[in-house]
Amino acid sequence: MRLKDKVAFISGAGGPMGLAIARRMAEEGAHLVMTDISGSRLDAAVAEIEALPGGHGKVLARRASVIVQTEAANLCAEALQTFGRVDVLVNVVGGIADKVFYRPFLEISEARWAGTFDVNLSGTRYLTRGLAPAMLANRYGRIVNIASVDFAGEWGHADYSASKAAVVSLTKVLAMEFAPHVTVNCIAPGIINTRAADAMDPEKRAELKNRNLLKRLGEPIDVAHAALFLGCDEAAFITGEVMSVSGGIWPGL
Ligand SMILES: NC(=O)c1ccc[n+]([C@@H]2O[C@H](COP(=O)([O-])OP(=O)(O)OC[C@H]3O[C@@H](n4cnc5c(N)ncnc54)[C@H](O)[C@@H]3O)[C@@H](O)[C@H]2O)c1
Repeated sequence: MRLKDKVAFISGAGGPMGLAIARRMAEEGAHLVMTDISGSRLDAAVAEIEALPGGHGKVLARRASVIVQTEAANLCAEALQTFGRVDVLVNVVGGIADKVFYRPFLEISEARWAGTFDVNLSGTRYLTRGLAPAMLANRYGRIVNIASVDFAGEWGHADYSASKAAVVSLTKVLAMEFAPHVTVNCIAPGIINTRAADAMDPEKRAELKNRNLLKRLGEPIDVAHAALFLGCDEAAFITGEVMSVSGGIWPGL
């Protein structure tokens, strides 16, 4: 029970990665705040938590868009009012604001560029603003941001790579500013078996699978194990780090 009686707040908890993190943290004794923009995905995720064979702590689930400042702020206030504190924040929401994932820089529209930066940074910023003051006052907190190995650069992902590099940079700045009682780290997943991988064309998926040393797609649980570690006391002396969960893929130049 590595998170016994801790309160963990997970954004994007209706997606496979967010749900795997929520489930892993619940199994380790955490109470949960779960949020997603999709009510149906969130309901299904909550049902999975409620069906955990070992039982679970309290769950506060709210449909919200975390990239809308008022919705994020209201949810943070409700979480703090309900539980008295939030110990762990995992910022999972992110992605690419386009159905076609890979586009050369010169073909990326203004709307895609702005949308990709928004989805990768705004929720993380608003939830951190909403929850970090209480963590600092409590002299305890673990913030885990989900970046991507693409932060190092990936063809066709100028917007995604640059915005994930910003997540890495923000992680390091916040680690400095929130030390010594609140740690801030990020996870850089490689290709993970989620809706994003499903939406990719099979050739691209196979290429990414073959580019990593372990020759498989990552599973949401692979990321969840890393998030649990960074979110619990075993990682007390780790802050400002990027943990790659990628099977050994390293894109960039
Ligand atoms: N899937 C991969 O291969 C992969 C690789 C590297 C990094 N990542 C990162 O991992 C994270 C999760 O990705 P995923 O593929 O599991 O995504 P996903 O789309 O499967 O899940 C993300 C969840 O976030 C929710 N969401 C989207 N916008 C939201 C908003 N504004 N407010 C609240 N909820 C919102 C979605 O409804 C969805 O349930 C993202 O940050 C992504 O960039 C994914």
